[in-house]
Amino acid sequence: MEFRMVDLITKKRDGMPLSKEEIHFFIDGYVKGVIPDYQVSALLMAIVFQGMNENETVNLTSEMLSSGDRLNLEMIKGIKVDKHSTGGVGDKTSLVLGPIVASLGAKLAKMSGRGLGHTGGTLDKMEAIPGMRINLTIDEFIHQVNDIGIAIVGQTSSLVPADKKLYALRDVTGTVESLPLIASSVMSKKLASGSDAILLDVKFGNGAFMKTKEDAIELARVMVKIGRALKKDTRAIITDMEQPLGLAIGNALEVKEAIATLKGHGPKDLEDLCIYAGSVMLNEAKIVTSMIEGTKLIKEAISSGKALSKFKEFVKAQGGDVSYIDDVSKFPVAKYIKPIVASSDGYLKEINALEIGEGAMKLGAGRATYDDVIDLSAGIILNKKVGDYVHQGDVLCYMHTNKEDVVAVEKEIHDAFKLTNNKVEPLKVVHEYIK
Ligand code: URA
Repeated sequence: MEFRMVDLITKKRDGMPLSKEEIHFFIDGYVKGVIPDYQVSALLMAIVFQGMNENETVNLTSEMLSSGDRLNLEMIKGIKVDKHSTGGVGDKTSLVLGPIVASLGAKLAKMSGRGLGHTGGTLDKMEAIPGMRINLTIDEFIHQVNDIGIAIVGQTSSLVPADKKLYALRDVTGTVESLPLIASSVMSKKLASGSDAILLDVKFGNGAFMKTKEDAIELARVMVKIGRALKKDTRAIITDMEQPLGLAIGNALEVKEAIATLKGHGPKDLEDLCIYAGSVMLNEAKIVTSMIEGTKLIKEAISSGKALSKFKEFVKAQGGDVSYIDDVSKFPVAKYIKPIVASSDGYLKEINALEIGEGAMKLGAGRATYDDVIDLSAGIILNKKVGDYVHQGDVLCYMHTNKEDVVAVEKEIHDAFKLTNNKVEPLKVVHEYIK
């Protein structure tokens, strides 16, 4: 049946659901270049305001998925598990979690992204280790996962071209913040990358896309339903992004923290998250039957050095210099390491993750546009977390930068720490498990 794009736009504008055929017409026409950006922008804005029901969201995901190739990972023996975080500040989880679950027999064949704006990306962090290759061929990727149980690479351009075009358009038309659009974007990419099971880490808080826990739960529920409807074991955890994860923000700094965590002395919130998420992934991989069993195995994998050895195998297999793992002092260090101190006494009630992420970016750790070059040594090391009591003059954090003039950024970072006279409890990291 032939449709007219203007009819789809008015239908959605008036709050009516689009049929599977209409969604096919729009995605197919947009990818082929026969429907112009201005009409797709209008439809996206109508979706932002009117939403989509579950059926429409599943159909949208499935059409986006069909717009490109799907990775066939059947050549990899065992259950392939994948993990996706909706993005945050200081989130180096994949670098810790991947080696942990691979060391215990799960297969992690993961495609990751780069950082943009205030959020970091796993690929940039990996590149802080000299020599690390993130563009393996599909054959190399499959062989590596078969050999050592883990590979993390950049996404190939033939997977979900519809998302690539739509995401670029959403970015410049104010249409990123829409539950069905985020859910279909994330899930189409995860489903195209071919794993048997998916764990979604859906973050909420000032540093996340979803500002409230309720919104994060709703997004997670929709994504889990999409995964199930398209026959994948999909589960989600809802985690905190009201403050940065761990203490390190910035590429080389985060890799060092990931290594410390694999050596058994990482920050508690990061370790807690890795143990929880890892237990769910081991359950998805049918290696454990309970969270208690998963937790025990993961703690052993860390204390025995097994997880760290797997990290070294992974770095070596992708061409990275393993000597950096044994001697982290080899990582580049910024020229200036400057403390920021508290200007009064009180309990820390907030370390605004968005403001810290933006501060780290301005110190050189991130990019404002895709072409910006990042400074691998730059970033922030927190010295306090929410719930801590601080005295005037105590160090809140250290700025690591090669930039001379950081007076304005220093003030912004200082103001990201909010104090109160009332006692504040530390924040827990994992709030819900949705399956
Ligand atoms: N991450 C994605 O991959 N897509 C979105 O729409 C938002 C976050």
